[in-house]
Amino acid sequence: MGGRWYKRITMKTSREVYNTWAAHYDQNLATGSVPVSFDGYKDVLTETVLLANVQPGMSVLDLGTGTGNLAALFETLGCDLWGTDFSVNMLAIAHEKLPFLHPVLADLHDPAWPQTLDRRFDRIVSAYVWHEFDLDEKLGLLTNLIDRHLASQGRVVIADISYPDRTSRSLAHADWGRLWSETEYYWAADETIAACHSIGLGCSYRQVSSCAGIFVFEAEEHK
Ligand SMILES: C[S@@+](CC[C@H](N)C(=O)[O-])C[C@H]1O[C@@H](n2cnc3c(N)ncnc32)[C@H](O)[C@@H]1O
Repeated sequence: MGGRWYKRITMKTSREVYNTWAAHYDQNLATGSVPVSFDGYKDVLTETVLLANVQPGMSVLDLGTGTGNLAALFETLGCDLWGTDFSVNMLAIAHEKLPFLHPVLADLHDPAWPQTLDRRFDRIVSAYVWHEFDLDEKLGLLTNLIDRHLASQGRVVIADISYPDRTSRSLAHADWGRLWSETEYYWAADETIAACHSIGLGCSYRQVSSCAGIFVFEAEEHK
């Protein structure tokens, strides 16, 4: 299982891959049959919730919710939870686990989101998804989210495969060798923070595991 599964995610990921993975995703996490990039997964999710700093009743949108593991932590805090994913199978499992989740089938690449998302959320969160997008795509998505979907005083909290700076990312690349996916875009906090500041977006970063960290984004005037 481990070997076959590993080959699948080192290929360019796609909706089909995630649809197939959905049935095994939670079990793979529980048994550790996941790539090294999931190092510290549970700590990363826990820390994401802390950085989101929610109050009961807040609306929370989880992008790429998968089987709902991050969303589940917000549900226990009394949030009004929304989860998007482009994999119908992932979303079905999330909804089964979290009956109060509002599930929305949506592709983050698609500029036309379903009408039901045409509103603002107190918090927008995401875990282990944005490495699908290069830095320009990340910035475009963030700008759109903050302009159109984030409540005033809200924040966007993104956890993902990430390094403090370009140097440490290059070192990890060399160290991982063939385990490194050449079709994914792992974050480097130094370049992300600089790029965000250049477009008036506040950004802070916390490294959580050897290969994952969390970004908090806020419109600069709200900081
Ligand atoms: C590695 S899983 C992470 C799931 C969950 N956030 C977690 O932390 O366990 C990545 C998820 O992102 C979804 N995803 C990837 N690319 C997407 C896109 N372009 N639009 C919407 N969902 C996407 C996948 O279907 C999958 O459920």
